[in-house]
Amino acid sequence: MINIKESRHPIVDYRPIRPSDLEVLEKIHGELFPIRYESEFFHSVVNGRGIVSWGAVDRARPMSQNDELIGFVTARVVIAKESEIEDLIRFESPKSDETLVYILTLGVVESYRNVGVASSLIREVIKYASTITTCRAVYLHVISYNNPAILLYKRMSFQCVRKLDSFYFIDGHHYDAYLFIYYVNGGRTRCSPMLELVALLLTHAKSGLKSVARILWRKEDKKVPKWPRNREAGCLLPTIQNKITTK
Ligand SMILES: CC(C)(COP(=O)(O)OP(=O)(O)OC[C@H]1O[C@@H](n2cnc3c(N)ncnc32)[C@H](O)[C@@H]1OP(=O)(O)O)[C@@H](O)C(=O)NCCC(=O)NCCS
Repeated sequence: MINIKESRHPIVDYRPIRPSDLEVLEKIHGELFPIRYESEFFHSVVNGRGIVSWGAVDRARPMSQNDELIGFVTARVVIAKESEIEDLIRFESPKSDETLVYILTLGVVESYRNVGVASSLIREVIKYASTITTCRAVYLHVISYNNPAILLYKRMSFQCVRKLDSFYFIDGHHYDAYLFIYYVNGGRTRCSPMLELVALLLTHAKSGLKSVARILWRKEDKKVPKWPRNREAGCLLPTIQNKITTK
């Protein structure tokens, strides 16, 4: 058990997770989550097989522990069109190859909580997602009773876009989940077809008015003031509830 009092002023450092982290990573997951992950998952994480990850360590701990994980985040890149949130993503074209980053697990050992470790780990994921030009969002699921995590995602400007009834099945009980999303690289949600139409009409109306104004202005030989930018139509998020098996 890690005791932060041993290291009153932690020097938290972030680094990729590597094969030597296997045992600790598996142990912390076992302690923090009610869901059991298969050994294959941990091997994929530490070997970077299809999963990206960041670990947090406290450099102020004694030598033997100063490289031991005290927190982690794991994620994978998924094809947006094959994801459950395809309808929440704006695609450039029907043939476009947009991707998303899905956060699989996030955890910080108890004695290192509330000092910003998870926030920093999430920021690493957002930074990474933003560097992938095809990536449109970072998203994740959280069990509905996990208030510290829900507060954290909200504080980090993730949007709660869905409630998924009985998403998790743990120890014979069903639990709801919330789906949180953080858009990157302009990947904001698609509007409903009606709102798309309204936005389109507004754009046309705007350019039509602009042309009329230009003609009138030219006639009066005056300088045309800059047309105000059209504000995006507000989008209502769909509330379709997908039934998905426990991840
Ligand atoms: C949820 C979890 C990852 C949060 O980790 P954490 O490192 O404590 O998170 P942070 O420190 O970044 O943020 C937690 C709170 O500490 C506060 N905080 C952050 N830095 C701080 C600082 N330097 N000083 C004081 N408070 C600080 C934040 O404001 C935040 O408050 P809020 O989110 O309630 O508004 C952690 O509780 C955990 O591992 N839980 C078990 C596993 C789990 O539930 N994972 C999520 C699954 S979806």
